[in-house]
Amino acid sequence: MSYLRLENITKKFGTFIANDNINISIESGTIHAILGENGAGKSTLMNIISGLYQPDNGQIYLQNKPVKIASSDVAIKLGIGMIHQHFMLIPQLTVTENIILGQSKNIHLNIRQKQAEVIALSQTYNLEIDPTAKVEDLPVGIQQRVEILKVLYRQAKLLILDEPTAVLTPIEVKSLILILRQLAERGHTIIFISHKLEEVIKCDTVTVLRRGKVITTTKTQQTTPQQLAELMVGRQVSLCLDKQPVAKGEVILSVKNLHVKDNRGIAVVRNVSFEVRAGEVLGVAGVDGNGQSELVDSIYRTPYSYMSRVRRVGYIPEDRQKTGLILRFNIAQNLILKAFKNQPFSRRGLLQQDAIKTNAVSAMEEFDIRAPDVNVPVSQLSGGNQQKIVLARELAGEPDLIIAMQPTRGLDVGAIEAVQQRLLAQRERGAAILYISTELEEVIAISDRIAVMYKGEFVGILDAANTTVAEIGWLMGGGKR
Ligand SMILES: Nc1ncnc2c1ncn2[C@@H]1O[C@H](COP(=O)(O)OP(=O)(O)OP(=O)(O)O)[C@@H](O)[C@H]1O
Ligand SMILES: [Mg+2]
Repeated sequence: MSYLRLENITKKFGTFIANDNINISIESGTIHAILGENGAGKSTLMNIISGLYQPDNGQIYLQNKPVKIASSDVAIKLGIGMIHQHFMLIPQLTVTENIILGQSKNIHLNIRQKQAEVIALSQTYNLEIDPTAKVEDLPVGIQQRVEILKVLYRQAKLLILDEPTAVLTPIEVKSLILILRQLAERGHTIIFISHKLEEVIKCDTVTVLRRGKVITTTKTQQTTPQQLAELMVGRQVSLCLDKQPVAKGEVILSVKNLHVKDNRGIAVVRNVSFEVRAGEVLGVAGVDGNGQSELVDSIYRTPYSYMSRVRRVGYIPEDRQKTGLILRFNIAQNLILKAFKNQPFSRRGLLQQDAIKTNAVSAMEEFDIRAPDVNVPVSQLSGGNQQKIVLARELAGEPDLIIAMQPTRGLDVGAIEAVQQRLLAQRERGAAILYISTELEEVIAISDRIAVMYKGEFVGILDAANTTVAEIGWLMGGGKR
């Protein structure tokens, strides 16, 4: 039976059509994946189902009854629960407080009773949790569990997860998929958005969106990851990289015995030493939170203390929204944040609007940034297109050193391919690249050498041509060579 049916749903932003006459039927008790390129309109569609946006046209049916989802409150009353791409929990509050937030009208709140309710709920769904823990102290995977419990507490029947796995470790991903499967077996209906084909293929059904339109809806058993990738981007995609041998040049970055302590005095980077040469990619593999951010921060804050002379540095930060972009600035402005004082963007202290625009037009073309024009504020772009702007800016001007932290997070397969090819072109030109990622296969594909980081240490630096996913995975989990 169809639980949710979208009929001719259309959503425009100005003249731009983000959702174009969408028809999808989602069966009760199934996991339905939505797959599509960056900017294809996935989040927009989910925001419509959860009452945040109103469609310009079309009708939504819940269990075959027409409904109007006028607000997120209405969505909750109808049993629709959304778990957003960026978590909405309040870090300083406890698990219980977060779960009941906004739910209890009673001022004489009995917190013990609420805790008991949370425990009961978590047992019902096999989602173990400490109701008294502060959210900020929990790993990301557990925080997500809190988000799920929060919508279950509101008795959601339909759960929407927008890119829930982007920030999870492989083990957390496995456990999430098990949880979703269990929920489906208990009759919940789940919409799951992900760019990772191996996750999508584990769902029951998949709808592919391209440029706002439904391309196809199919049972996952009747398709393959390769086929899905091609349906999604509308051309052949190579899921593996073609890496040319490059002669290594001089040492560009040299780090010796680096130690970093966090603000509580705990050692988070311990005795790390390495070099990166011109024309080389050094990958840093590791589970999130093993000191990668602190390592990169400390290099980027004082890059010249690790280099023999002043050089150009390109930096792709982990959090594009906080440190990579100024969200209220437009595309053209974000593209010159580092160079606006220089020619041709500035002359005699005056900004040269024509040059700034020309630069933006050509960057949008070269990096396939999908937006109506160069004057759109970057806050309105899809996650993947925001990332492409950071890349375009940081790779401009032939940097000697590129530090790329999770540069493909949130990108679709076509965009990942493009980013990696761009970085390899920089390597061939002679740039030294430090590539930090939690995506093991990606690190292996792009790197010449791979450092594995575990609990703040480099536990091994391996030759990428002579290692395996299994070996690196083993080291990442704390195994010894
Ligand atoms: N509030 C808005 N105003 C103007 N344009 C918008 C707005 N929200 C989204 N868009 C545009 O609609 C298109 C679809 O965006 P959406 O966020 O739905 O993409 P997505 O499929 O979720 O992409 P991603 O995989 O990168 O998250 C994008 O081109 C985006 O720029
Ligand atoms: Mg999105």
